[in-house]
Amino acid sequence: MPTCCCQNNAVDDRQKALQRALSKYQNTKGALIPLLQEAQEIYGYLPGEVMQYLSKELKIPFSKVYGVATFYAQFHLQPRGRNVIRVCTGTACHVKGAGGILQSIQESLGIKSGETTADLRYTLETVACLGACGLAPAMMVNNDTYGRLTPAETLQVLKQYK
Ligand code: FES
Repeated sequence: MPTCCCQNNAVDDRQKALQRALSKYQNTKGALIPLLQEAQEIYGYLPGEVMQYLSKELKIPFSKVYGVATFYAQFHLQPRGRNVIRVCTGTACHVKGAGGILQSIQESLGIKSGETTADLRYTLETVACLGACGLAPAMMVNNDTYGRLTPAETLQVLKQYK
């Protein structure tokens, strides 16, 4: 079982949830990816000790577990922010000023694309297209889409997300 220096209930709950996930996939072939997905759902990302634990329990070499976790973009090996900002840098958004939007966010939050603020409030990502080209320049925060943004409006939007 993964260990943690904090002894709070949240940790216990996560460990129990991981145990339940493991029981669900016991003796199931191809369980690694669904279990990594469940572990990420539980922990918010894939801590190294959780991958080691799954490696041991599934009797799969850690190198394979790590290889799968790093191959698929859906898996995250670092903690993620409570709010995920996705700035579109596709052609339509690029032409309409996505660079300025991205720059204002980076300067305001002090992080680059792919990074998370130290307080875990935001994770910043860039994407090739959000499917909202008519609203360019566009971004998403979690499941909310915002379009025809200016840098100033963008920063106002972000303040709503605690
Ligand atoms: S290019 Fe930005 S939403 Fe499509």
